[in-house]
Amino acid sequence: MLHHLLARNSDWAEARRRADPAYFERMAQGQQPSYFWIGCSDSRVPENVVGGLDPGEIFVHRNVANLVHSTDFSLLSALEFAIDVLGIREIIVCGHTGCGGIAAASQGLVNGLADHWLEAVRRLARRNEADLSAFPEGPARNDRLAELSVIEAVARLAETPILQRAWARGDRVSVHGLLYRLSEGELRNLDVTLTGAHLGRDAKE
Ligand code: CO
Repeated sequence: MLHHLLARNSDWAEARRRADPAYFERMAQGQQPSYFWIGCSDSRVPENVVGGLDPGEIFVHRNVANLVHSTDFSLLSALEFAIDVLGIREIIVCGHTGCGGIAAASQGLVNGLADHWLEAVRRLARRNEADLSAFPEGPARNDRLAELSVIEAVARLAETPILQRAWARGDRVSVHGLLYRLSEGELRNLDVTLTGAHLGRDAKE
């Protein structure tokens, strides 16, 4: 299996060099990505591919069910680096239909460590019981929960001191929520974008 991956890599690198001899030299000089993507670990939602982007165009953090935990130093470190060092102004939280993490959260406690990771999703589901009950139990309800979870993640990002500080100093950073539909290959904008305009002030009250 690993041999297969290494062989594919070798073919890819060679094809790149053939198409653009200076490509890797340019890559080695640094990155200037325009987007920071927070997505699910799911193998079917690779941000570069579904976004039609090349290496160097998108900075990435992925975890199970694309959650934003305020104690996740891996995510927070990447977020801080994205905004403060790379100067990225477009932050994206992208969920997806058919998310195994979201489905696991709506089952009982059977997944070990993941049950802890997904605790916030279970809490979110309880808080939105009325909304969720309008959808038939199963995939449709889980996809609605995935949507609600993205909206929640956008709000949580906006509350991080990293975003609050960026907005306070006038950085025009936007946080967007998207949902990727596995069965169509389309990214949908959930239209829940937050810019510091109102939230920065809310936080100081
Ligand atoms: Co997922």
